[in-house]
Amino acid sequence: MKDLSRTELAALLRRMPKAELHMHVEGSLEPELIFRLAERNGVALPYASVEALRAAYAFTDLQSFLDIYYAGASVLLKEADFFELAWAYFERAAADNVVHAEIFFDPQTHTARGVPIGDVIQGLAHACRRAHAELRIGAKLILCFLRHLPEEDALATLEAALPWREHFIGVGLDSSERGHPPEKFARVFARARELGLHVVAHAGEEGPPEYIASALDVLQVERIDHGVRCLEDPALVQRLAARRVPLTVCPLSNVKLCVYPTLAQHRLPELLAAGLCVTVNSDDPAYFGGYVNQNFVELFEALPQLGVAQAKQLAANSFEAAFVDAATKAGWRQQLDEVFAAAAA
Ligand code: HPA
Ligand code: ZN
Repeated sequence: MKDLSRTELAALLRRMPKAELHMHVEGSLEPELIFRLAERNGVALPYASVEALRAAYAFTDLQSFLDIYYAGASVLLKEADFFELAWAYFERAAADNVVHAEIFFDPQTHTARGVPIGDVIQGLAHACRRAHAELRIGAKLILCFLRHLPEEDALATLEAALPWREHFIGVGLDSSERGHPPEKFARVFARARELGLHVVAHAGEEGPPEYIASALDVLQVERIDHGVRCLEDPALVQRLAARRVPLTVCPLSNVKLCVYPTLAQHRLPELLAAGLCVTVNSDDPAYFGGYVNQNFVELFEALPQLGVAQAKQLAANSFEAAFVDAATKAGWRQQLDEVFAAAAA
């Protein structure tokens, strides 16, 4: 491989095909759409303008973000709102050469405001179908439980979603991590597994490495969302590496929520070097400063030890970690090889 300039490397990062596996659709709600939906739905906002709202996006930790994130989501009321939200994300994902996206949604955030769960799922599923038909993106939904609420609420949410079972491929666990360990959700994850759903959970973002271990042991998750705090436990790192348990890492999110002071201090290079199946994702792109390509480009700019080999590895990992069949993965791998071969020529 010839040496690429940093500008050529950034172009390659943008151009390479990739899967996005950690993106909360409510976190892709841009301020402009918040204001448009607030007006359309007659929802009062405590901010005078798009600029005033954006100015409030200065977070000190996960909870300070979640407070604003749930307030933003309050404008989502109708099936059409959920369609528009997800469609706007898929258009941006297509521009970033995302070939496959498994996106999170938080039904409890909406059902608590009286929105029927079927309206949420149908609106999102409609956007997924259109993304596949018109943008050639494999678009799948993962239903997340809010971990600050009791497990009984999560169990009721899963049962309420079952009439739309065909529209989601898995369940996840998000919201306030500290004080809400994975084992709190043992029964609902067992039920999800029984239903043949994929299972993932946020762990080791703000919470300790023990939460990563209990997500694996108790919830039997197939991927860990974030997981960066595994580095505090070398035996856990070894375990994750040996089993190739994917970590869906979100660099810009980690800086915005003060998990790391700067991108230059992000420990993704160590995770990769340890042989972990690390992927790069945007988490809540409307709140954290950019979509998936922005995460790649800023991360590589901040960390000069990341080069072409790591770029290709991260894209390959995103395919390895996706919930799709081996033939589909092999097709993506071929596309990836072609893009890198062309860059080397
Ligand atoms: N962590 C936990 N919950 C979330 C996040 C996150 O990064 N984004 C949206 N809900
Ligand atoms: Zn997340």
